Amino acid sequence: MRNLVLVGMMGSGKSTVGYGLGEKLNLTYFDTDAKIEAITKMSISEIFKEKGETYFRQLETNLLKEINQDQIILSTGGGMVLLEENRILLKKIGTVIYLKGSEETLYQRLISQTEKRPLLDLKSLSNQISDLLNQRNRLYETTADFTVEINGKTPSEIIDEIVGFLKE
Ligand code: S3P
Repeated sequence: MRNLVLVGMMGSGKSTVGYGLGEKLNLTYFDTDAKIEAITKMSISEIFKEKGETYFRQLETNLLKEINQDQIILSTGGGMVLLEENRILLKKIGTVIYLKGSEETLYQRLISQTEKRPLLDLKSLSNQISDLLNQRNRLYETTADFTVEINGKTPSEIIDEIVGFLKE
């Protein structure tokens, strides 16, 4: 089986679904944000604040270049698809799956989680989600081999749906 890569917006459940899929399919779970935090010994918020977004994006690219393992499931930060170089690397790493949520779903999930996310703030959350989705939706769709709608579904329903797609 090829490696699996999850892409999608913040709040789309990439980490939860990725971890669960790893358990179910016996794949090693990797999370790019967690890996970057471990390597730099800084939180994502600190990296954005002290070094800036461009530096963070470069760390993401460097990390993708170093991945040379099989049997992994990779959960990626929501902005991973922004750079063309990253999109090409993701496709090489494995089968890319887009976890697609509506603005409303993402809003409900992110409302209590803005603190850890440097690109979001509570006051203008709804507009920020809308802007990011407008900017990124096409990039997620064109990078992904297939898209799974997450609205109204539990992580285990999403996992089952992905397993079903992979069997087809
Ligand atoms: C980002 C998403 C975050 C993290 C960083 C930037 C983005 O990851 O990489 O805060 O640009 O959408 P999650 O999607 O796991 O929240």
